[in-house]
Amino acid sequence: MHRALSIDELRGIARRAVPNFAFEYVEGGAEDERALHWNREALDAIRLIPNTLVDTSKRHQRITLFGEESSSPLIIGPTGLNGMLRYHGDAAIARAAAKAGIPFTLSTVSNMRLEDVAENAGGRQWMQLYVLKDRAASRDIVSRAERAGYEALVVTTDANVFGYREWDRRNYRAPGKLTLRSMIDVARHPRWMLDVLSHGVPWFDNIVDFLPPEAKSARTGVAYFHKLFTPDISWDDIAWLREAWPRKLLIKGVMNVSDAQRAAAAGCDGIILTNHGGRQLDVCVAPIEVLPGIKHVVGNRMTIIVDSGFRRGSDVVKAMALGADAVMIGRAVLYGLAAGGEAGVSRAIEILTDEIDRSLGQLGCRTLVEVQPGMIR
Ligand SMILES: Cc1cc2nc3c(=O)[nH]c(=O)nc-3n(C[C@H](O)[C@H](O)[C@H](O)COP(=O)(O)O)c2cc1C
Repeated sequence: MHRALSIDELRGIARRAVPNFAFEYVEGGAEDERALHWNREALDAIRLIPNTLVDTSKRHQRITLFGEESSSPLIIGPTGLNGMLRYHGDAAIARAAAKAGIPFTLSTVSNMRLEDVAENAGGRQWMQLYVLKDRAASRDIVSRAERAGYEALVVTTDANVFGYREWDRRNYRAPGKLTLRSMIDVARHPRWMLDVLSHGVPWFDNIVDFLPPEAKSARTGVAYFHKLFTPDISWDDIAWLREAWPRKLLIKGVMNVSDAQRAAAAGCDGIILTNHGGRQLDVCVAPIEVLPGIKHVVGNRMTIIVDSGFRRGSDVVKAMALGADAVMIGRAVLYGLAAGGEAGVSRAIEILTDEIDRSLGQLGCRTLVEVQPGMIR
């Protein structure tokens, strides 16, 4: 794991380390996985034009994010079910992020309670909120996050209707019930079984208080779980959240200029341009493609973060050149988690930050501020 040279190599190790059903849960996109591929295509299509003969011996990738310094423009995005890759995976990622000096975002559907992660990890922690059908339950998550000291609330708005991930579906014969083939595959991963299953099947500990008794085990709960989510989320929810949450508020799921303007008018501090890593709308444009237009209109009013498809430090530099304030990463970190727990996550962050640093130097830039739109082809 320590010898992995790239995120793609970590991905290869991750694939071998966990049963296929867990790997495919991480890897899969929706339906034909077009958005998943377009995310990469859009990033690959961007080329950079370097400056030369600039003394880059003193360079750094620090940024200021919501008034505080971050060691790098990376933010760890929220991902549910991290405990399926490693026991207490949420805390492992949060600790690695804290050590690296970058923010970590905990998912609503984490396998650890938000209070336990906050206590366990230190560093800058953000809380992601899926607005649940039960608004009282959502309010409860918000006040728990406030009490636990979370710095920002990230409201995910692109999963009002769940994406159909066919790879993932094929591994279960019914909700929560693996196929025989998947069970045999599990048996082929004794180290994973010892790490993950010996503590019991990972469950949504963060929201377990809202589940009825019959939904409190993994087997029975998955079917019920979908009933928690609701397609009726709207700007009204942002209005009450703005009142309820006193710290930084971000919407994760804005993809066009008019929604970005509306987010600014609603008092949001930031937006995250995303297509959920290609896991929701399968024909969705890549977030990197809508970044310049949105930046142009609301860039001086809100922090703009982008995600989906980032696998190299040079991808991150491209986003910064196009005006992003920071970049969120999802799978790159999960590959690290599956490959080597906390150390694997640290390795993923190290690979990306080394690549950002090299890209800066090779572009003739000393800081990310010097990476300008004029360098984009
Ligand atoms: C396994 C997995 C679980 C995810 N769970 C959540 C979640 O609970 N909440 C959320 O807002 N986004 C979730 N996402 C989306 C990520 O936050 C992020 O938008 C996406 O992974 C970025 O794309 P990338 O994986 O290509 O970096 C998940 C993504 C993955 C891969």
